[in-house]
Amino acid sequence: MDGRDRVIVALDFDDRRDARALVARLGDACGSYKIGLELLTAAGPDLVEELVGQGHEVFLDLKLFEIPNSVAGAVRAAGALGASMVTVHAMGGTGIVAAAVEAAREFPRLRVLALTVVTSMTASDLADVGIGGTPDEQVLRLARLAAGAGCDGVIASPREVGLLRAGLGPDPLIVTPGVTLQGRGAGAAVAGGVAGAAVAGGAAGVHSRTGTAQEAFAAGASHVVVGRSITRAADPVAALALARAGAAG
Ligand code: C5P
Repeated sequence: MDGRDRVIVALDFDDRRDARALVARLGDACGSYKIGLELLTAAGPDLVEELVGQGHEVFLDLKLFEIPNSVAGAVRAAGALGASMVTVHAMGGTGIVAAAVEAAREFPRLRVLALTVVTSMTASDLADVGIGGTPDEQVLRLARLAAGAGCDGVIASPREVGLLRAGLGPDPLIVTPGVTLQGRGAGAAVAGGVAGAAVAGGAAGVHSRTGTAQEAFAAGASHVVVGRSITRAADPVAALALARAGAAG
């Protein structure tokens, strides 16, 4: 992936026409898209091949948590579609993560990324499922497990990027969703107010552990994932430019 692809736009649509319209609108400005379970299920895997055929990178966010044989099969299917990234839950343990990594070997462009602790979970939620310690401790534990099993990187909330970059070193990818385009009140002049509208209608309202794209890159994220702040912006091209400015700065 080149620098242009450090901002991944999440195509969280339930209809392929809406997804295609957004892709057409962003044109050459966007090189990388995330397709999750909603759009994959609604539109089918052809859309992945279509985007790859147009020269885009596709992050297929499958969030796999299955027996190793099934995980390996799903990763091979993602690789055959031409996906560049696929996700597996590190909570599944070394066997499941290693199965994903092994299955990806025949697809040189496919990177396996590990999910650690779902960002909405608190220490109390972890205790409820029998896990002691803080979310940060569990995130770092699972990230190290994933790195040890050969994963190319991890998914991390803005709040965890610094911790993970320090703990994992410079090489692993750290892909960060849950970002806004800018802090409240900042940069109102940028993009003629597009950003303010984007934040109001985007990630800020729903992510308790959010941060800006710029903060995520500064803390060591290799990529950020931005959904509604771009896809629902009055001017998605301007909103994407704002996110990419974070990558540069
Ligand atoms: O909030 P936004 O629309 O930018 O979300 C974009 C993507 O980021 C979603 O597809 C979701 O899977 C992912 N996300 C996440 N964890 C969060 C917030 C969003 O994985 N805390």
